[in-house]
Amino acid sequence: MKVEQIYTKCLAEAAYYIESEGEAAIIDPLRDIETYLEMAATAGAKIKYVFLTHFHADFVSGHVDLAKRTGATIVFGPNAQTDFDFHSGKDGETFNIGKLKLELLHTPGHTMESSTYLLKNEEGENHCIFTGDTLFIGDVGRPDLAAKSELTKEDLAKTLFNSLRNKIIPLEDNLIVYPGHGAGSACGKNMSKETFDTLGNQKATNYALRSNMTESEFVEEVTSGISEPPQYFPKNVALNKSVNLGIDSIVKRGTTPLSLNEFQELAKNNEGLVLDCRNQKDFIEAHIPNSLFIGLDGQFAPWVGALIENINQPIILISPLGREEEAVSRLARIGYDNSLGYLKGGFQTWLDSGNSIATLNSVSAEEMETEFKQGINLLDVRNNGEYESSHVEGCDFKPLDQIHYNIDSYEADKEYYIYCGGGYRSVIAISILKANGIHNLVDVKGGFGAIKKNTTLKLTEEVCASTLN
Ligand SMILES: [Fe+2]
Repeated sequence: MKVEQIYTKCLAEAAYYIESEGEAAIIDPLRDIETYLEMAATAGAKIKYVFLTHFHADFVSGHVDLAKRTGATIVFGPNAQTDFDFHSGKDGETFNIGKLKLELLHTPGHTMESSTYLLKNEEGENHCIFTGDTLFIGDVGRPDLAAKSELTKEDLAKTLFNSLRNKIIPLEDNLIVYPGHGAGSACGKNMSKETFDTLGNQKATNYALRSNMTESEFVEEVTSGISEPPQYFPKNVALNKSVNLGIDSIVKRGTTPLSLNEFQELAKNNEGLVLDCRNQKDFIEAHIPNSLFIGLDGQFAPWVGALIENINQPIILISPLGREEEAVSRLARIGYDNSLGYLKGGFQTWLDSGNSIATLNSVSAEEMETEFKQGINLLDVRNNGEYESSHVEGCDFKPLDQIHYNIDSYEADKEYYIYCGGGYRSVIAISILKANGIHNLVDVKGGFGAIKKNTTLKLTEEVCASTLN
């Protein structure tokens, strides 16, 4: 028996590979399916099933492509409706993978088709559960994504409560919980850094599984403090219900090397949005004026999805050399399929051409502290939870995911010092503000982490630790 977690940090997503006796199954594949095909080919196994725990909102899944390439059957839980052929699994239905059995447990709540898959080993003993977004390590899936007028997030939360109580909690403590996401995913609010755990430990430590919790307490706790879902979520759900394009042709076009002339023409005619995905240090040093920074060395795809409203936006890339394909694939993972190519030779080509460049003003936390005492506008652009847990006393709060909605609240003649968790999101924020005509901006290097470590600035009391950058 082989069970492997394939964890993708950018999306904080876990897919799974299961194999026995020459048969394999994939749970929740990403759109770039080569990894799964290679794993099966290396083992000489045939992929028999592609199981989906639910319609994902935060990435485009590769189920249709994978089924097409392997002949595998796609399985969803009850209530799923799609534009492609699939097997509509029933609660309690069992699927054979070699000598293993996988039982579908319908666990609605995060969404109505949400299902958990229970794996039984060769001896028929329960071994692990693949919980999708029903149960995370330290949290449960948010119940608002599938809400509509006749089904509120409170209704969904009640359904989730019952799924957890009736289907998950009665299972043995020694089972391993393999969730669909880890910390940093917008599918939950309070996930821990671990990517798996025993069910017993989750029963003991996960707030949403505590034994004396009432249904109304559960509803109150899981529906409070959830931020607006990123704007691309419903678009990815729609893509996952339809036959989405295979990734190969998208990558082929997106990795077209563009000459300086071609690149400039596309940028000039606003046909292509210039997306700079180098490290923030490089962007701070020099970049193309008005380009958007979202670096590959961070949660690249979720920030693209949150901040570039048009999913069909043509994009031209300034990429770190050799990472062009990675950039295009990571864009396509969330349905941004319209990459037109990258500047050949990268940013160096731009520099060598003598075209104008822009730089960012970036200071250390200590330098900011000196200025702070003389009175500055200090902005925190982290998320709600991070800000609430602790922030610099006297700072202003404007979360990055809301920047397009609060851009009018910035005054062009004022100077703003901006910090995030570790110095990634502040540079994204500054690149967006500059492109919108706000130029007096100073980045705080190392963000809140450096402020905490290296300054004596007064912070509000820490409620819980945060791990994002
Ligand atoms: Fe989800």
